[in-house]
Amino acid sequence: MSSNDTSNADTVGARAREIFGRRAAYYVTSAVHTDPQVLARIVELAAPEADDLALDIGTGTGHTALALAPQLGAVLGLDLTPEMLDEAESLRALRGADNVAWVLADAQALPVADASLDIVACRRAAHHFPDIAISLREMRRVLKPGGRLAIDDRGAPEEPDLDALLNEIDLLHDHSHIREYRPSEWVAMLEKAGFVVDSVEVYILNRPISSMTEDVAPDDVARIYALVESMTPEQAEALHVGQRHGTIYFDHHYLLVGAHVA
Ligand SMILES: C[S@@+](CC[C@H](N)C(=O)[O-])C[C@H]1O[C@@H](n2cnc3c(N)ncnc32)[C@H](O)[C@@H]1O
Repeated sequence: MSSNDTSNADTVGARAREIFGRRAAYYVTSAVHTDPQVLARIVELAAPEADDLALDIGTGTGHTALALAPQLGAVLGLDLTPEMLDEAESLRALRGADNVAWVLADAQALPVADASLDIVACRRAAHHFPDIAISLREMRRVLKPGGRLAIDDRGAPEEPDLDALLNEIDLLHDHSHIREYRPSEWVAMLEKAGFVVDSVEVYILNRPISSMTEDVAPDDVARIYALVESMTPEQAEALHVGQRHGTIYFDHHYLLVGAHVA
């Protein structure tokens, strides 16, 4: 990484800390972040065994770490934002999960020894990492041979115009957003980092526009509405833009990826 890249990562990190610090309480109960189906699928992809050691990167308020905890030896939840880890610790104590600990650190420099873990999970966080290639290399570095990687993240459609549109909306929603990637990009990035990709599952949630505009500055809210309202008929059809309950809904793309170290 050049010194420019380092200062960019620091700036993005500071922005993420500011935004997630403010929104931490929301993530404890947010329906999309507590969604039991997605959590169950991540656990399946991670395939935990009794003595396994796992790392949950960008753990936020700890939902993924706490879903894995009952099925393995120990989990470390890692995040950049202290307020998120404070909420995670409250949830951990409430659930009596004694095999879970938290660490304040950056996904670009994991404070974990080489080849020391059986599982790495990373849910809804990778689109914030300043340099995804560095983070994926770090994930690969800390996993043992045979170790599993389970990723869940916002995704982008393969069509360039829809990809650009959804990424632009997410950047207005959250200024620490870097990029949500297409399924084909995930496969290429993971293979380049040295993983064997086992599965890529795209899922789509048709969500109200408020999920992108809550706690967002008025100028950015106006730009989000302008982007949604100025879609071509083809784009609006592809993203199932429609009115329900007096508000605009459109598709948000997500994906679950399972991979392992050979
Ligand atoms: C949308 S939240 C998702 C939290 C959690 N994984 C979940 O699914 O509920 C994204 C999290 O990634 C964290 N994050 C963003 N950039 C990061 C980085 N470079 N290193 C570590 N954590 C980061 C944020 O602080 C935030 O807690």
